[in-house]
Amino acid sequence: MEIKNVSVIGAGTMGSGIAQVTAQAGYNVTMEDIGEELLERGLASIDKSLGRGVKKGSISEQDKASIMSRISTAIGLSSAKDADLVIEAVLEELELKLDIFKELDSICREHTILASNTSALPISAMAAATKRQPRVIGIHFMNPAPVMKGVELIRGRHTSHETFQTCKAFIESLGKEPCEAVDYAGFIVSRILDAMMNEAFYCVMDGNKPEQVDKAMRLCCNFPMGPLELCDLVGADITLHGLETVHKEFGDRLHPAPLLVSMVRSGDLGRKTGQGFYDYRKQA
Ligand code: 3HC
Repeated sequence: MEIKNVSVIGAGTMGSGIAQVTAQAGYNVTMEDIGEELLERGLASIDKSLGRGVKKGSISEQDKASIMSRISTAIGLSSAKDADLVIEAVLEELELKLDIFKELDSICREHTILASNTSALPISAMAAATKRQPRVIGIHFMNPAPVMKGVELIRGRHTSHETFQTCKAFIESLGKEPCEAVDYAGFIVSRILDAMMNEAFYCVMDGNKPEQVDKAMRLCCNFPMGPLELCDLVGADITLHGLETVHKEFGDRLHPAPLLVSMVRSGDLGRKTGQGFYDYRKQA
C-alpha cells in the first residue's frame, strides 16, 4: 500500500516532531489538535527545530519553507478522512486513546492504517476499539523525534503482515530504523529505560546528588545524557505514566519511586515546566 497523506493527532512535543520528520521525507501531513493555540505552538516548535538545520547548513531556507508548506493543521479529527496513515500522539491516557481510535475508525477510509505513538499502552486494546484490527499498529518515535534514529514498531495481536510491512517501509522512508517490539507494557524502550530511570530516582532519594548520578552514567557508561536529565527531557509525568503502566503489568519490581510521584504532584515535570531535577528557568 502506498502512503501519501499522513495525519498526526496531537501537536505536542512528539506530535510536532513526528509531523516534522514526516514532512521532511516528502509526505503531506495534517497535524490535528483540539485548539488553535496548541497547533500554533506545535508549528512554532517545528519552525525552531528546522531553523537549527538551516543554521548549521544541513537544510536551506527554501527546504525549510517547502517542508513547512507540506504541513497543514486542523482542529478535531475530521481531516483524518484523507489520510492513508494516522499517527496518534495525544496524552498517555488509555480511555482518551480508545475514544480517538473509535472515532478515527468511523472517519477514516477502509484502507487507512491507524497507529499509536504510545510509549507503553497496549496496542491491542486500541485495535479492539476499532473494526479494523489488522490495520492498527504501534509506531513509537523517540524524543527528540527529529534526532533519534530508532522507532519501535509494535504489532497488536491482530496486526496484519501487510500493515507491518507498510509501516516498516514508512519508517525507513523517514531515514529511521524500525525496531520490532512485542505488545507488552512499555514494549522494549520504556520498559528498560523507565526501570533504569527509577533506580536513578532512588539513588537521589538515598542521598546522591542529581548531578553526580547523571555524571556517573554519562562518563562511566557513555550515555549521551544522564537518566535524570533524560527524565527532565521526556517529562516526569510521561516517565511516571510509563512506570505505572509497566508496574501494573510486571509487578513490584517496577514500583515508581516516591520521589518521582512527588515531583509530578508538584508540577516539576522537567524542561516543559522549567523545573525538574534541574532548574531551566534561568536558561529561558
Ligand atoms: N530538533 C532538531 N534537532 C535537534 C533537536 C531537536 N529538538 N535536539 C537536538 N537536535 C540536534 C542538534 O541540532 C545537534 O545536531 P548536530 O549534531 O547535527 O549539530 C544534535 O541533535 C545534538 O544536539 P545538541 O548538540 O544540542 O545536544 P547533545 O549532543 O547533548 O544531544 C540529545 C542532545 C540528542 C537529546 C542527546 O543528549 C541524546 O541522544 N539523549 C538521549 C535521548 C534519548 O534517550 N531519547 C529517548 C528517550 S525515551 C522516549 O523518547 C520514549 C518516550 O515515549 C518516553
